Amino acid sequence: MPYRSLREEELRLRLGWFVKIRWIFVAGFSAAALFARSVLGLGFPLVPVLCALASILVYNTAFFLYQRARRRRRAGPNLVRRRVEAHLQIDLDLLHLTALIHLLGGVESPFLSFYLFHAIIGSMLLSRLEVLVVGVVSLLLCSAVVTFEYLGLLPHHGLVGLFAAGAHRDPLVLLVVGCAFTVMLLATIAMSSTIVASLHQREKELVAVREALGTKSEALERANQALREHQESMIRTEKLASLGELSAGIAHEINNPIQFIQGNMQILREAMQDLLPILDGAHRENSALTIARLDYPFFKQQIGVLIDDMAGGAARIRDIVKDLKTFARRDEGRLSEDVDLNEIVRSSLRLLHNRLKHYQVREELDPELPHIEGNASRLEQVIINTLVNAMEATGSDGGRIGIRSSVEREAGEVRVSVADNGHGISEEVKRRIFDPFFTTKSRAGGSGLGLTISYAIAQEHGGRIDLESEQGSGAIFHLVLPVKRALT
Ligand SMILES: Nc1ncnc2c1ncn2[C@@H]1O[C@H](COP(=O)(O)OP(=O)(O)O)[C@@H](O)[C@H]1O
Ligand SMILES: [Mg+2]
Repeated sequence: MPYRSLREEELRLRLGWFVKIRWIFVAGFSAAALFARSVLGLGFPLVPVLCALASILVYNTAFFLYQRARRRRRAGPNLVRRRVEAHLQIDLDLLHLTALIHLLGGVESPFLSFYLFHAIIGSMLLSRLEVLVVGVVSLLLCSAVVTFEYLGLLPHHGLVGLFAAGAHRDPLVLLVVGCAFTVMLLATIAMSSTIVASLHQREKELVAVREALGTKSEALERANQALREHQESMIRTEKLASLGELSAGIAHEINNPIQFIQGNMQILREAMQDLLPILDGAHRENSALTIARLDYPFFKQQIGVLIDDMAGGAARIRDIVKDLKTFARRDEGRLSEDVDLNEIVRSSLRLLHNRLKHYQVREELDPELPHIEGNASRLEQVIINTLVNAMEATGSDGGRIGIRSSVEREAGEVRVSVADNGHGISEEVKRRIFDPFFTTKSRAGGSGLGLTISYAIAQEHGGRIDLESEQGSGAIFHLVLPVKRALT
């Protein structure tokens, strides 16, 4: 909350508080006046005093209703209105106080000290200059009453019993009371406004400290976030490294058996072709023939499907092994070719042409894209992976895919962005998307290695893959790579 509205809030609270004090003052004063008149027998005009109190009651009610209406309307902060209200409250109070002082003894009145009370109130609500004006107005009003009474222009209502008669006409009394009153008033104003000013200064410092703290904690939060991202990236790198070691071994071990499974599968298929006529003959002779506990007709119908399933499974294992081998061999290739990413995008689109023709593809390549240093075929693999994922996420019916290349000269980076209007990526998936073997397409044959490999390739080029997506609203993958030579 800025300092101005803090001031406004404080004014609002104090103005409400003064309305409450005025209720108490009017009630107490009325009771005291009735008591002084009827029990103590003091000789002041009761009815005019009660009228003055009633008048205070009226304007206090008006302020009360005004404040309540503002609260109900939830009116926004308005410092100017608050200050006008503060002035009105103080001015009306001063007028009524002067009237009460006149009715209750003039220069002899013990209520003269109430002016001091208003000086204090003024210091809380107004600026130093304004309080000084309040002090001067108090002095003028008070002097006017005393002078008019002295000159006989106003009647003097002595508090019979408290003061000697005629004191209001004694110049010495007037001088002493006047001097004492002026000094006290000025001293009160100086003291209270100094205290209030120093309080405001403290408040300003507090606000400044609070703002500084806010900025610091934002910076801390940002640093924390950067640290978390760095940590995640380290964990990822670690996982990739161990996967690299593991996969080299696994790929080698699995590769040989899978090759002979695939080779033998072909032999098995051909063997079945030859065996079926013989089995048909046997079945004709023995209609109850069963093979592997299956009735022969059912076996004959199913065996082709079983062999196809096995061949499909073996092919999938072979693909995964191929991915793993590529992954393990990552470090072997040259990373120093001069690469035009636009050319790579075009060749990836050509390679995938057969599948992509079912989608609306938008290509937006920056002709000024600087070349980078790297390994063209691996970067092509990244782009193909991303395009395949985009196709799989959208489905050909109404699927839209955009591919764009751009340069960020200030950051010294080029990027290839692949966007789709597919099902998008949830926060949960986002957290694990680059993890090895993480896939949401296990039924459709996903290996969960595409993005792991892509990320590793981006990293070995000194780059990264950024991802923007929300569940249900498509996704954008940015392959971001550094430009080696300084850009002009
Ligand atoms: N464009 C995309 N839109 C939505 N999800 C995606 C997209 N690309 C990747 N994914 C999610 O990331 C997972 C991992 O992708 P990837 O590593 O290529 O493995 P795979 O494609 O074999 O599942 C996918 O299973 C999919 O859930
Ligand atoms: Mg994939």
